[in-house]
Amino acid sequence: MNRLIPTLFVFAFLLTACGQQESAEGTGIPFKPTGDALHLMHFVLEPAADKIWDSAGQIITAEGTRDLRPTTDEGWLAVEQSATVVAETGNLLLMPGYARDEGDWRELSLALIDAGLRAKAAAAAQDAEQLFDDGGHLYRVCVSCHSVYVQGLPAPTTTPLRVE
Ligand code: HEC
Repeated sequence: MNRLIPTLFVFAFLLTACGQQESAEGTGIPFKPTGDALHLMHFVLEPAADKIWDSAGQIITAEGTRDLRPTTDEGWLAVEQSATVVAETGNLLLMPGYARDEGDWRELSLALIDAGLRAKAAAAAQDAEQLFDDGGHLYRVCVSCHSVYVQGLPAPTTTPLRVE
């Protein structure tokens, strides 16, 4: 019993020490970017956003007007998956290596997450009108960020983004 008390004390000390070490390591979560922001745009974000924009509204063809909304559950699920990719890309853009600053960049990345989640909800509800509106909102988030951070792109023609 006499020896148990110091043993318990040492054990408690080690637990505390380990706890501190874990929280210190917690600030440096390891990750490995697969490319730069431009790569992320071309290979992750743009294809996913295109899927949303190509799944709502109408196009006029030689044969007449064609509604773009998915016609099967699988089709809607694919839109929902792409919207999730859009939202998660916002999280990637917030990470060191992609993030440019803690001001507008952060706000616009968070806005991208919200826009993606809105489109995801519309796709889950199979609501084509809502998805069309959410696609418009998403587009304004893209343009807002490009107008601040991408040189050489034309200034946005839409009203500036208001993040709710
Ligand atoms: C948080 C900021 C941010 C958001 C939001 C954002 N982008 Fe970008 N985008 C950039 C930056 C920065 C570049 C330029 C990267 C470079 O050239 O290094 C870029 C470049 C691009 C390019 C390449 C343009 C070119 O001329 O080569 C495409 C395509 C693109 N983005 C698509 C999108 C789409 C689609 C969305 C919305 C669904 C979006 N981006 C949202 C920051 C953003």
